[in-house]
Amino acid sequence: DTTLLVNKHYLLDKDYIPDDLVNVSQNYAWGEVGSQKVREVAYNAFLDMWNAANEEGYYLMINSSYRSYEDQEIVYNNYKNSSGERFADSIAARPGSSEHQTGLALDIFSKTNTNKNTFSQTDEAKWLKENAHNFGFILRYPEDKVDITGYSFESWHYRYVGKDIATYIYENDITYEEYYAYFLED
Ligand code: DAL
Ligand code: ZN
Repeated sequence: DTTLLVNKHYLLDKDYIPDDLVNVSQNYAWGEVGSQKVREVAYNAFLDMWNAANEEGYYLMINSSYRSYEDQEIVYNNYKNSSGERFADSIAARPGSSEHQTGLALDIFSKTNTNKNTFSQTDEAKWLKENAHNFGFILRYPEDKVDITGYSFESWHYRYVGKDIATYIYENDITYEEYYAYFLED
């Protein structure tokens, strides 16, 4: 299921691993061979998006994709140990609550900018924001939705939900939490 909601309140099992992960080509991702994986449906959508962006002169690059429960534990604990639990919770998901464990989330930057502080100002970030829904991706943690998502603005974190849902979310300027409340629960 590509529509599952994962957030601070809806967690994945510790041993949940998607069964259709594929390797991301090193043309589009940093890291060693085999270190970047994503679910096949999201990878195909990403490739379409990559090509469309490239036609406009942009070169997108993934720097984080599928993360296991244990990978996320390391990410979260690093922030927690260096900056405290409160700060960690504003920028990183506790293990079990990260979309990266679904294999449907991608941290997308450009070949020339991987800086979390400045990426939002790049043409690539602007292009993604306006076009990602056409390929089935949503900007998951928007700048003006921190109170709803519980996370700081992440101009690089995109979540695959499919074109129809992504377009609805984009056109109505809502978060995935709101979409779920309206449409996927009683
Ligand atoms: N940075 C996002 C919230 C995560 O850790 O999944
Ligand atoms: Zn991310």
